[in-house]
Amino acid sequence: MVYYIRFLKTPRLAKQKGAVSVSALTCITTDLGDAFLTEDVDLYVTLLAHGTEKVLYQEPVTWKAGKRELSLSLGPFPASLSQHTLVLAVTTATSGKLQGPSPDSLIGKSELPLVVSGWSAPFGGSQTLVAEKLVERRFGPNDKLGLRIWEETGNSIARHIWDAAVAAVIYLQKIIAGDPKISAPFLQAVLQRSRSSPLRAIELGSGCGIVGVALAELLPGCSITLTDLPEVEEIVTKNIAVARPAESSTLQFQTLDWDETLPAELCGGSIDLVLVSDCTYNADSLPALVSVLERLLQVSPDAVILVALKRRHESETIFFDLMRSAKLCNLHLDHMQLPSEHDQHDQIELHCFGREGRQQG
Ligand SMILES: C[S@@+](CC[C@H](N)C(=O)[O-])C[C@H]1O[C@@H](n2cnc3c(N)ncnc32)[C@H](O)[C@@H]1O
Repeated sequence: MVYYIRFLKTPRLAKQKGAVSVSALTCITTDLGDAFLTEDVDLYVTLLAHGTEKVLYQEPVTWKAGKRELSLSLGPFPASLSQHTLVLAVTTATSGKLQGPSPDSLIGKSELPLVVSGWSAPFGGSQTLVAEKLVERRFGPNDKLGLRIWEETGNSIARHIWDAAVAAVIYLQKIIAGDPKISAPFLQAVLQRSRSSPLRAIELGSGCGIVGVALAELLPGCSITLTDLPEVEEIVTKNIAVARPAESSTLQFQTLDWDETLPAELCGGSIDLVLVSDCTYNADSLPALVSVLERLLQVSPDAVILVALKRRHESETIFFDLMRSAKLCNLHLDHMQLPSEHDQHDQIELHCFGREGRQQG
């Protein structure tokens, strides 16, 4: 399982007797927040000037196995520090001593690390003394995917990133890059085909939007609609605003509740790809999810569906039964390994579905 650095208390700047200090409370947990990391990890805590990213202060800290939280207390610093709007980064790597903290690798020689780093929202200076309850994930380092995604720090299921989404991003990126180790003909046909009209993709249950945003950044000429319940609108809109889509690619958000009638805008025009990551954990919502998929493929019979999932309960097998009943067949199954504790790996399933009898495009 991948572990994520979280802010239990976001950074705050305190002014005392002509000096200032910065404090925060962090922990390292799974996407579900149900387990803390049980191995020691060396981290760097870095204070950056917001905007310029200049490193103002950095110190190493260690997360200790068995702990449930890590309290950070930096300073005292000269009062002049409070002139800067600050960002606090808690990362597993830096690009060198007193260099900026590095984004986490998603692909290439260095794969995703066990612990995903976190950057705070700006605080101090012209901002409030306490950072907003947000954490930013930064993924890189290759030029094509300098992905930045904001999550909330609370316990909302929808407003943070899940492991299957991270695996889906890596998978899509590998396919688009033409990785010879991947053979996923239906997805390759959709993602690698040169096209006269934009590729149209819809993401269901997008949460913060990491998968759809990454696809828009990777693939020129695509139009991607992220959908989810209204509760994610604020965070997903923030992520769309900071996204850097590839040439001629666009991103938009539309609310969609699987229990309600599919809005006409989502049925108009042909869809090429439907993205679904980590949305099969709740058996109660599966009939509604599958009926949305069925409806989308009635309108766009040649569309391909990518479902990324991490098996969490036995009940998730119902999803596959429902898909079969809806005549949506499993065209292809791949697995992606994400790092887990003590050099273990965690398996994410990547299922490609299409309408029964569909020919490869
Ligand atoms: C575990 S989260 C996954 C979020 C994101 N796809 C990811 O992997 O990071 C499941 C998502 O499904 C959405 N969801 C659950 N029930 C839904 C429904 N009835 N209609 C639309 N979205 C729903 C939630 O709001 C949430 O964003």
